[in-house]
Amino acid sequence: AASTDYQAETATVSQGAVASNHTGYTGTGFVDYTNIAGSYVEFSVSAAATGTAQLTFRYANGTTVNRPMDITVNGNSAALNLSFGATADWDTWADQTISVTLNAGTNTVRATATTANGGPNLDRLRV
Ligand code: GCU
Ligand code: CA
Repeated sequence: AASTDYQAETATVSQGAVASNHTGYTGTGFVDYTNIAGSYVEFSVSAAATGTAQLTFRYANGTTVNRPMDITVNGNSAALNLSFGATADWDTWADQTISVTLNAGTNTVRATATTANGGPNLDRLRV
């Protein structure tokens, strides 16, 4: 099936800010997570039918240190401490993909930083 892009800058953000001070993002910007554990971005994702789907997070991490995040779907853990490793710099974006089960209709996908460094810069979620 065709994929749909959900921009981070139009998602729900807790302890983060929409920014555009680095290049290479899609849409109108990205989310800069506050450097704190628990900061998150939450997307409303629609699925035509119940079943397996790939979640692809496009991110940048201009440090040398992993910025792991917990991924939940409808409040249930889908991935713990999913890796968001270093990219070359803050203008260089990479994809991290996991496989999850979505329900037919609207689903809530949340990506929560698990370390005091916060999350990476998050451009979008592709489903
Ligand atoms: C820099 C960078 C931000 C990034 C931040 C961080 O300030 O410009 O885009 O979010 O580092 O370390 O989280
Ligand atoms: Ca940040």
